[in-house]
Amino acid sequence: MKSLHDDFGVEIEGIDLRDAATHYTWIRRAFEEHSVLLFRGQCLDDEAHLALGRLFGVIEIRERNPQEHEARMSMVSNRWEGGHVLSEESPRLLHLKANQLWHTDSTFLPAPALANILAARKLPTSGGETEFVSTRAAWRDLPGSTRTRLRRLVLRHRYAHSRMTISPAAAALDVVTMWPETAWRAVWPNPVNGAEALYIASHAFGVVGMGEREGRELIEELIAFTTRPARIYSHRWSPGDVIIWDERATMHRGRPWPYGEERTLASICITAGEADGLGWVRPAPAG
Ligand code: OGA
Ligand code: MN
Repeated sequence: MKSLHDDFGVEIEGIDLRDAATHYTWIRRAFEEHSVLLFRGQCLDDEAHLALGRLFGVIEIRERNPQEHEARMSMVSNRWEGGHVLSEESPRLLHLKANQLWHTDSTFLPAPALANILAARKLPTSGGETEFVSTRAAWRDLPGSTRTRLRRLVLRHRYAHSRMTISPAAAALDVVTMWPETAWRAVWPNPVNGAEALYIASHAFGVVGMGEREGRELIEELIAFTTRPARIYSHRWSPGDVIIWDERATMHRGRPWPYGEERTLASICITAGEADGLGWVRPAPAG
């Protein structure tokens, strides 16, 4: 295993992810420990990608009634139905550009993501990197008094908040406005090894019990601290690359590319469950 960054992340060689079931115990251990796993030279089709996801848990379905839908592959792509590349002003491209804000996935859903498995499909000639930071390392580096305070805080999340930062048109899309506000504790302890990590995202817009501005400033400060340049692992995609990351212990963002070119990554998120420590981040009911 080669490490990707001093704080986190490993490249794993010698595993064909189509045989992931055989290696799952080992892969899962590495996931809990290192937060970001990179595999190169893979040939995952949709079916193998979904099968890999199911090893980690329940595949995320972004529908109001997920039980009525079947899990399927989703594409992080600027190519739209009909084959054309989205224009730079289209609300869909603006929505995609919001991935360029530091975040962790799906904090706006009733149950957030445990992991994302992203696989390169069509890459632009330049740019389009995906960057990661360890929120576990950031947590460790925070002053003890700040950690004590954060252990008591609950953050408010809303999908439209991150989209609004980019453009009102992106925030007004049905796929965005359909999700009501959620609330999660600001720290997610890993149930396997006990390591705590700051749990924060571009979707976080406030702190329960705090003034709007004070809450927003605290969130901005924490994200700035967590994403200082020295903490970043920047991944330049090559064909065949697959990255699995732990949403509980990292933040990520995409980087710009020439938008006239197609950039497509196949993605599935796995929904966090009780065994992943979801109970720790769910705030106690008010009252
Ligand atoms: C995602 C995401 C960033 C990228 O798939 O959740 O944020 O680089 N992707 O496309
Ligand atoms: Mn994302």
